[in-house]
Amino acid sequence: MEKRRKKTITITSGKGGVGKSSIVSNMAYVLGGMKESTYILDADLSLGNIDIMFGVVPQFNIKDLIQGKKRIGEIVVEGPGGIRIIPSTSGVSEYSHLSLEERNILLSSFLELPEYDFLIVDTSAGISSNVVYFNAISEDIFIVVTPDPASLTDSYAVIKVLHKNTGRKNFNIIVNMARDEKEAMDVFKKITRVTDRFLDVYLDFYGYIPMDKNINVATRKQKLWVEQFPDTLATKALQKICNRLVA
Ligand SMILES: Nc1ncnc2c1ncn2[C@@H]1O[C@H](COP(=O)(O)OP(=O)(O)OP(=O)(O)O)[C@@H](O)[C@H]1O
Ligand SMILES: [Mg+2]
Repeated sequence: MEKRRKKTITITSGKGGVGKSSIVSNMAYVLGGMKESTYILDADLSLGNIDIMFGVVPQFNIKDLIQGKKRIGEIVVEGPGGIRIIPSTSGVSEYSHLSLEERNILLSSFLELPEYDFLIVDTSAGISSNVVYFNAISEDIFIVVTPDPASLTDSYAVIKVLHKNTGRKNFNIIVNMARDEKEAMDVFKKITRVTDRFLDVYLDFYGYIPMDKNINVATRKQKLWVEQFPDTLATKALQKICNRLVA
């Protein structure tokens, strides 16, 4: 059997609603199609909803794991294309700040997972202690930004906090909901103009996904757009990003 990568990556953002969960779930499907064994960790521990993207209803979730009632293998649910999801809880604010002990339970249960290529962590927006923690344990950090000026400002804030709290210097930028490549590049340039000036970090323009109404059509039906619309622009753009991930 070939060697698995065992790579944890985190998809995060400053502002909410920029498309993190949408990117994570569709990315996992594309990677699955490339024979990359992929898990999703829904790390939005108080408003988790990645299972909704797939239309699956998990019986157990990360709360049962943290409370020691279930092992990780028992809470994992399978989505389309063989993706495996570690589901979160919804509407429970008690996990908005994980204690050291709870973090340790989580970390040791990740070690129980069978061999895999990618563990993609979908975080909540903003700069809570959980977001910092999940980014700190990831090999690569991806920040999703949109052309919305508020998203730009909040991205800068999140990069700054992650850099200060984890010492990380490398951040991958995915621009979502751009009109075209030019607008995506402009967004990237705007952020680097500020980070170059004030922070000792390196940003990599990892790729962009255009604004695509087929995404909304699929999302409303609780379907993955890459599956429903294999030829739509957003799918092609995400495939490019995934090609880079496995390169
Ligand atoms: N490229 C795109 N084109 C059109 N619509 C998009 C695009 N990307 C995401 N969306 C839509 O934007 C909305 C928000 O996406 P999503 O829930 O993935 O964001 P999020 O960053 O995970 O939000 P939250 O911060 O609340 O977790 C969804 O309705 C999704 O279908
Ligand atoms: Mg989300």
